[in-house]
Amino acid sequence: MDKFVIGGGRKLYGSVRAQSAKNSVLPLLAASVLTEEPVVIHETPPITDVFSMAEILRGLGAEVKFCGEDAVIDCSRASVHRIPPSLTRELRSSVFMLGSLLARFRRAACAYPGGCDIGLRPIDLHLNALKRLGVEIREREGYITCACTQLKGAEIVLDFPSVGATENILLAAVRAEGTTTLYGAAKEPEIVDLQNFLNAMGAKVRGAGTDVIAIEGVERLHGVRFTPVKDRIEAGSLLIACAICGGEVEVEGVRGETLGLLLHKLRENGCKIHTKNDKIRIAGTGRLKCNRRIETMPYPGFPTDLQAQMTALNAGAEGDCLIVENLFETRYKYVPELMKMGADIEVRGRNAFVRGAERLHGASVTCGDLRGGAALILAALGAEGESEVLDLSHVDRGYAAFEQKLTSLGAAVKRVRI
Ligand code: EPZ
Repeated sequence: MDKFVIGGGRKLYGSVRAQSAKNSVLPLLAASVLTEEPVVIHETPPITDVFSMAEILRGLGAEVKFCGEDAVIDCSRASVHRIPPSLTRELRSSVFMLGSLLARFRRAACAYPGGCDIGLRPIDLHLNALKRLGVEIREREGYITCACTQLKGAEIVLDFPSVGATENILLAAVRAEGTTTLYGAAKEPEIVDLQNFLNAMGAKVRGAGTDVIAIEGVERLHGVRFTPVKDRIEAGSLLIACAICGGEVEVEGVRGETLGLLLHKLRENGCKIHTKNDKIRIAGTGRLKCNRRIETMPYPGFPTDLQAQMTALNAGAEGDCLIVENLFETRYKYVPELMKMGADIEVRGRNAFVRGAERLHGASVTCGDLRGGAALILAALGAEGESEVLDLSHVDRGYAAFEQKLTSLGAAVKRVRI
């Protein structure tokens, strides 16, 4: 298990380039099952969620190689339609493999991807949508088995703009008979990236980025070489790091408007922010002011994946802040660890009441999930004195070379194997 030893209180200066988006690369890997021709995904981030997804594809009989930053996938010999339970537990988001497996094999099976550290994470929206496409679904002893004679286009309405369910529907509908119209779709930039990837394979998808997506089924999809969109959540995490530490940082590769309300909130904290095309420059000017309220919402609202990081910022700012987490039931597991650093936060259900402390102090804290772990790292960077952040396996799931990026900006972060 690795830990970070972090010397707090150093300002950050310089520029960093965002990695490719974890939450785009994962569905793109799932989509590679849809063709028997080679697929190349450029600039693939070396993060453990990508390696877990590669293992799932290999378990189906596909060949996955990493040549530098290229992921080269050959599914021509893929013949297994069942995802092993160990890998579904490892990677919850493997559930959107169901759509691509059904499109390829007309059968699919995976273990029920149980809850995780941020909530129950049911998949009812996924399964109801697949049934609309003509899929028979049986759930027995924690296993989901899906089968159909032919996927048939349909009208589908999502009660909630679920990202994963939207992706599952796209992956299944691209090779269905007829047209599928999805109402109430998630509008995240990663959905637009998936549409572009599928259309580059010969699919006919229109409307991603809005809440109505039309998919005209096609017979075949061919191979593709593709560069994914950059990771707006990693970029947001780095911007928040600079806000907490002070200094001046430019993050490249991500457009400001893909960060939802983050830039507006950072300006409320007193940061100076300039955006130009896909460059975002932030200057942290001394003591921050708390946001009055941060409420997570589906895109383009405030991203739930930046909630923990902004709570860490508010914990050391002036005033009080109400955080409302609307997407996941228990996305505050990191709070007790932040309190070891002197944070004053009271959690009640989906609300967290933050009273800004004069300054957080260093402590020994442990990561419990991906974004909560990132929040602890950011808090340690701004805290007085030295901290250690344990169990980095959670952070390594979604942040490639995080310590290299932070130290290149002047932070004192050392990875230690224990
Ligand atoms: C995706 O998860 C992201 N993961 C998450 O990022 C992100 O937090 C989330 O979207 C919301 O933006 C990937 O893209 C791999 P949802 P997903 O389906 O698809 C409920 C990170 O840190 N729901 O939009 O699982 C669900 O319980 C990760 O990078 C149902 O009720 O999210 C949750 O409350 C964490 N029934 C809400 O919808 C369903 O069938 C949002 O879930 C599906 C979801």
